[in-house]
Amino acid sequence: MEEKPVILTCAQPTGGLTLGNYLGALRNWSRMQYDHECYFGIVDMHSITMPCVPSELRSNTLSCLAQYIACGLDPEKSHIFVQSHVIGHAELAWVLSCLTPLGELQRMTQFKDKVSKLGFKASEPEDEKEGEAVKFKHSGARAQASINSGLLSYPVLMAADILLYNADLVPVGEDQRQHMELCRDLAQRFNQVYSETFKIPSAYVSKAGARVMSLADPTRKMSKSDENQNATIFIHDDPDLVRKKIGSAVTDSGNEIKAGQEKPGVTNLLSILSALTGKETSEIEEDFTGKGYGEFKKEVAEATIETLRPVREKYLSLSEDKTYLLSALQNGTAVAQKRAYRILSKVYRKIGFVERPR
Ligand code: TRP
Repeated sequence: MEEKPVILTCAQPTGGLTLGNYLGALRNWSRMQYDHECYFGIVDMHSITMPCVPSELRSNTLSCLAQYIACGLDPEKSHIFVQSHVIGHAELAWVLSCLTPLGELQRMTQFKDKVSKLGFKASEPEDEKEGEAVKFKHSGARAQASINSGLLSYPVLMAADILLYNADLVPVGEDQRQHMELCRDLAQRFNQVYSETFKIPSAYVSKAGARVMSLADPTRKMSKSDENQNATIFIHDDPDLVRKKIGSAVTDSGNEIKAGQEKPGVTNLLSILSALTGKETSEIEEDFTGKGYGEFKKEVAEATIETLRPVREKYLSLSEDKTYLLSALQNGTAVAQKRAYRILSKVYRKIGFVERPR
C-alpha cells in the first residue's frame, strides 16, 4: 500500500477561532483529511511561554478541541492530540536546541515582536557574535518577570513538533515562514551531523480562502485578540451578532461594490463572500451592480451565518460533553505517541545515547 503524505499542523489553545481561521485554515485542513495522513496538535506547551492562567489554559484546550471537531476535523480520520500528552516534543526540542546557535533565535522576528510587546527592547548582539546574550532594556519590573527563555526557544519546540512525526507538509500562516525555515535548517543540520534521519518538511501556505481582514480596519488581519469588539467574527457568534458586526463593517467612500486597492473594506467583504460561496469576485461584483452597500452587507452576513450555522451548533453541543472530548483524543494520542516514540528512539540512537533497558 502506498503511503499517504503526512500533514502536521498545530495551534495554540488561545480563545475562539475566527472566521479568518475557518476560511483560511481549518476548512482547508478538513478537506486534506481524505488524501493525507493528518496530525493536528493543540500545543499547550507553547502557550506557557507567555503569562497564562492555569484554569484558562485547561478550558481553552478542550474548547479548542471542540472547535477543531466542529470545523470538520474528524477524530476518526485524523490524529488529533494535545502536545503535552505525547512524550517526545520536549525531548526532541532539547536535542535540537543543542544544534541551534543562540543568534538564530535572537534574530527571529516574532521573538523580537513579543519581547517588545512585553515592554522590552531586544537589541541584536552588537557584533552578531553567536552565543552572546540578548540585551534587554526593560521598561517595567512586571514585564521583566514575563521574559523567559522558553519564549526564545519557542521555534525550536515548534521544529520538534514537526520533525517528531517526519511530516511532509506543514500548513501554516504567512507569519510562520521564518520558523519553518529554522525547522528545515535544523533537520538538515541533524542529518549532516548524525546521518540521514529527518525528512525536510515543506511549509504549505494556502491561498484558498485567502486572508480575512479586520472588519474595523481592513488593512489589518482579522485577529482574535483585537480590542474592537466588532472587528472579528468568531465561529460561535450567534446570527444576530454576525449581522451586527458585518452591518458595522468599515466600507469605503463611493457606493460601488467593486474590489480595488482604494477600497479595502469592500474588497475584504467581497473576498469573504467569495470564499463563502465559491463564486468569483467578478461574478459577485456583477450581481451587485446598481445595488447599495446595505444590500451587499446583508448578503455577506447571511452567507456567513449559513456557513457557520452547523459549525456553531456542533461546537455548542460538543463543548458541553467533556467525556466525549476526552475520548476523541484517545486514538490520536496513541497513534501520535507511537510514531513519536519511533522517531525519538532513532534520534537517541544516532546521537549516541545508550539503549534503554527493557
Ligand atoms: N507557532 C505556531 C503558531 O503560532 C503554532 C505551532 C506550534 C505550529 N508548533 C507547530 C504550527 C507545528 C505548525 C507546526 O501559529
